Amino acid sequence: MSVAGTGTIPLTIVAAVARNGVIGGGNALLWRLSSDLQRFKALTMGKPLIMGRKTFDSIGRPLPGRETIVVTRDRGFSVPGVHVAASIDEAIDIARDRATAMGAPEVIIAGGGEIYALTMDRAQRLVITHVEAQPEGDAHFPAIDPEVWKQVEFATGNQTAKDEVPFAFAVYERAGNR
Ligand SMILES: NC(=O)c1ccc[n+]([C@@H]2O[C@H](COP(=O)([O-])OP(=O)(O)OC[C@H]3O[C@@H](n4cnc5c(N)ncnc54)[C@H](OP(=O)(O)O)[C@@H]3O)[C@@H](O)[C@H]2O)c1
Repeated sequence: MSVAGTGTIPLTIVAAVARNGVIGGGNALLWRLSSDLQRFKALTMGKPLIMGRKTFDSIGRPLPGRETIVVTRDRGFSVPGVHVAASIDEAIDIARDRATAMGAPEVIIAGGGEIYALTMDRAQRLVITHVEAQPEGDAHFPAIDPEVWKQVEFATGNQTAKDEVPFAFAVYERAGNR
């Protein structure tokens, strides 16, 4: 159940997406992009993160400075320092309550593919790292429909020695009128 007045805290999806829509494979990322990890940290610090149980397993621990809400159907799932939700609705309610408690302006949807698909229709913003690669993988990002999503920022990434492939940073906002 959400606290009165917190229902409007927006959901922001953060994802790194290859040209073919792939976001991961074998429950791992498929590229090394230090710049993207730094960006993820800056975007998410001090905010609640919703993630699927598989993504949580791939990270292996709650990320410091943030609050983690894991979505799982496993009623026995329990990890110290992690909130557990049995549905996406419950996860959003918990995350909005935590955002209010933390003074965070938004809830971050941190993946993976199943959780992005469940939240795409409810998010206000997509913060996407477009990865210039076409790897084979088993987790995908939903199509970004230009009728629904307006690109409001785009910047070619500054590729460093710690970034395996070229990339670009983009932000999309839900178009006001369709
Ligand atoms: N590139 C990126 O930005 C990025 C970001 C995050 C993750 N990833 C990658 O994405 C992959 C993981 O994504 P994924 O799609 O396989 O898994 P996921 O979305 O991380 O997690 C799926 C799990 O979430 C739970 N779940 C899903 N729908 C649910 C519902 N309606 N109610 C309750 N629980 C629900 C289930 O957990 P239980 O099985 O425990 O019930 C399900 O197995 C990995 O390769 C990871 O590296 C990439």
